[in-house]
Amino acid sequence: MPAAQSQQTPHLLADYRPYPFEIRQVRLDFALDPKATVVQAALDMERVLAGDLVLDIGAGVILHRLAVDGVDLTPADWTRAAETLTIHAALPARFTLQSEVTIDPSANTAFEGLYLSNGMFCTQCEAEGFRHITPYPDRPDVMAPFEVTIHSDLPVLLSNGNPLREEPGLAVWQDPWKKPAYLFALVAGDLRAVSGEFTTMSGQSVDLNVWVRPGDEPRAGYALDSLIRSMKWDEEAYGREYDLDVFNIVAVDDFNMGAMENKGLNIFNSKLVLASPETATDGDYERIEGVIGHEYFHNWTGNRITCRDWFQLCLKEGLTVFRDQQFTADMRSAPVKRINDVLTLRARQFREDQGPLAHPVRPESYIEINNFYTATVYEKGAEVIGMLKTLIGDDSYRRALDLYFDRHDGDAATIEDWLKVFEDATGRDLTQFKRWYTDAGTPILTMTEDWDADAGRLTLRFTQSTPPTPGQQDKPARVIPIAVGLLSPNGDEVVPTTVLEMTEAAQDFTFDGLATRPMVSALRGFSAPVVLKRDLSASDRAFLLAHDTDPFARWEAARELARDTLLAMIRGAAPDAEYLAAIGRLLADPALDPAYRALCLKLPAEEEIATAVSDAGGVPDPDAIHAAREALASEIARSHQSALEAVYQDSVLTGSFSPDADSAGKRSLRLAALGLLNHIDGGEHAAALYASANNMTERAAALAALIAAGRGDTEVKAFYNEFKNVRLVIDMWFMLQPLNTEPAQAVAVARGLAAHPDFDWKNPNRFRALIGGLTANHAAFHAADGSGYDFLADWLLKMDPLNPQIAARMSSAFDSWRKYDPARQEKARAALDRILATPKLSKNLSEMVTRIRNAA
Ligand code: TRP
Ligand code: ZN
Repeated sequence: MPAAQSQQTPHLLADYRPYPFEIRQVRLDFALDPKATVVQAALDMERVLAGDLVLDIGAGVILHRLAVDGVDLTPADWTRAAETLTIHAALPARFTLQSEVTIDPSANTAFEGLYLSNGMFCTQCEAEGFRHITPYPDRPDVMAPFEVTIHSDLPVLLSNGNPLREEPGLAVWQDPWKKPAYLFALVAGDLRAVSGEFTTMSGQSVDLNVWVRPGDEPRAGYALDSLIRSMKWDEEAYGREYDLDVFNIVAVDDFNMGAMENKGLNIFNSKLVLASPETATDGDYERIEGVIGHEYFHNWTGNRITCRDWFQLCLKEGLTVFRDQQFTADMRSAPVKRINDVLTLRARQFREDQGPLAHPVRPESYIEINNFYTATVYEKGAEVIGMLKTLIGDDSYRRALDLYFDRHDGDAATIEDWLKVFEDATGRDLTQFKRWYTDAGTPILTMTEDWDADAGRLTLRFTQSTPPTPGQQDKPARVIPIAVGLLSPNGDEVVPTTVLEMTEAAQDFTFDGLATRPMVSALRGFSAPVVLKRDLSASDRAFLLAHDTDPFARWEAARELARDTLLAMIRGAAPDAEYLAAIGRLLADPALDPAYRALCLKLPAEEEIATAVSDAGGVPDPDAIHAAREALASEIARSHQSALEAVYQDSVLTGSFSPDADSAGKRSLRLAALGLLNHIDGGEHAAALYASANNMTERAAALAALIAAGRGDTEVKAFYNEFKNVRLVIDMWFMLQPLNTEPAQAVAVARGLAAHPDFDWKNPNRFRALIGGLTANHAAFHAADGSGYDFLADWLLKMDPLNPQIAARMSSAFDSWRKYDPARQEKARAALDRILATPKLSKNLSEMVTRIRNAA
């Protein structure tokens, strides 16, 4: 079948061709109607190259009229194929192309293009949603100014740019900045604004609005506050000023991802806007601040400078993630932020790199671009920029960024453009560095030491190698910035942080003039996204945990101690005494930041332990991993019960709730102590906390602990009754149960919840909560009887015809199936084959499952 064939044809970076036309101005007119919205477009076009006039058009768009300079075309003048419209009529050098179409927002369950959410009209156009609204060259390198007229009786009518005209039933918006179609947005509904004002560094006043559903206003203040801090921060850290009279943010309940940076009209998943102490956790507050920042920072890195094509996605996403990480580090604790970012990177990106979905930060081929909004593009894309900054230093980084904004403002740029800016600003040759963009896979870095006592010389020997990834066998050496410091045996720092620049497959670095053999603190601050292998005894690690002056490396020592003792326990050993002693010292050290202590107390997740088992050449047994982790937590609790009790009691916060970083850090330490005590107290602390807590952070943690202790039935019911009208809290309720239930019962619990009347599975947040809650319960998802795999496959197949983006994203839970034992692999393979054998799969899901199924 030709259609199925073309569905699977990959797009190649090498096939890029410029569009033969420029668009001088876009005028759009929307007559909004839930079932039949009429969209008229007028595009002022000019030919710049030879070639056909080809527009993208979604299958659901009903075309009524096409005209050139006011003269109607006839169907003989165009050809409509699966997703394109080619115009054959003779065209003058400059002309206006008009179109009129009808679309049906009420039937749009994919939430791509124009859709309805609770009676509100809303759009999502990235990456290729605009073609479902009107015929258009829907590619990021076609940029134009837009003027948008909206006809509707709804009270609030919004689009990009500045408001030009407003009358009952009508609004006109004008965006003076040329932009690609993926940044177009329109919202219409019964909304309320929580408003503020910002004066930019050059004195321009900007009206700020956070638009929410009536009744949600009291929960929008933190988002507005975060926006103001983001605007200020971008001026101070990057010299970037806002460029319109208004900045609007809209919260919507049905949304495929986190948020979207549409010019002047950011649209957010409501879970990343709405927060109050009673309904949101500290984690929610931190994410809201980070994502508000992220979308705002896109105004320069993404909007003013956009991507030439979707292969360059990391140009905007890697850079904007890097910027939002810097923002959060400045607003909160920089070491804690770094550790959390590394945890996410390892859990999501390393996993991707080591499995069938591995791809370069800049891919060279894709079938469905929505499948490439990945941890590799986002998180590794940010790490690559962090390495560049480490290599050239802060001042050069700032100079390079100034040059980037200067040179490329208004452009649709490439990774080559980006690297050229750094070469020109610093005089460096970045040819080898570019491999971080083109080569997939996580390098494995080994370090050995050679100590020459007579000469007082330490030699560090590094080797690097990157395992093959799909389609890329050979991996030449990369540039790796390795930050190291040397500590004397009494813990003093004898050599402060130095960045070694490794460029060869094997390379030595020497340190002279040392009186005694130092302890090496390596890969400080996680200076490169690599796996570092070195032989260290438990007592060496305990030394680093006690003395390292680099907070990341110090935390890493705790992590590796925990990992090694867990690996030994899986093989039947008792918990390591060095580790238990080190944890005791850490607990009792009030000089350490509570949030940092909480991070050091947290045990590696079961998924991370499973990865460590397979890295060591073993086959992970999910049940044994779960049992070992539970046993270690119990042992820590027994060994340090009174210290944990003390921490738990001492860090009680009095007074009214504040979501600031210090308060959140104290709560996180207290809840880490609770999580450990919960293993030996039968849930007593959790029950008391659940009853007394005045905020959702403690409430949710207590509920999770009660579920884990197997005694949460009463509280689970009470929680539902209390919050049944607060959608976001009920999402959490659907997530906490499959996530925290003992693995042997979790699939049954998830199946029960899937039959709950409130399991509105077409809502992406609700679907992700329940299905994602189960897949994040490692031993439950990998249940030996295959029930976890079947549960996921059933729901992916149910979701795919309605919302292929969500189905495809959630399918990645299968990506590690090859790591497990033959019996589990058999069950996973059967589930994957059942998906692939289903007729009419979306190209999103079929691409993902095909790649996963083909895992070597
Ligand atoms: N560009 C958005 C961001 O990172 C993410 C995004 C891409 C998105 N595609 C989307 C959001 C589809 C919602 C739906 O900020
Ligand atoms: Zn982004």
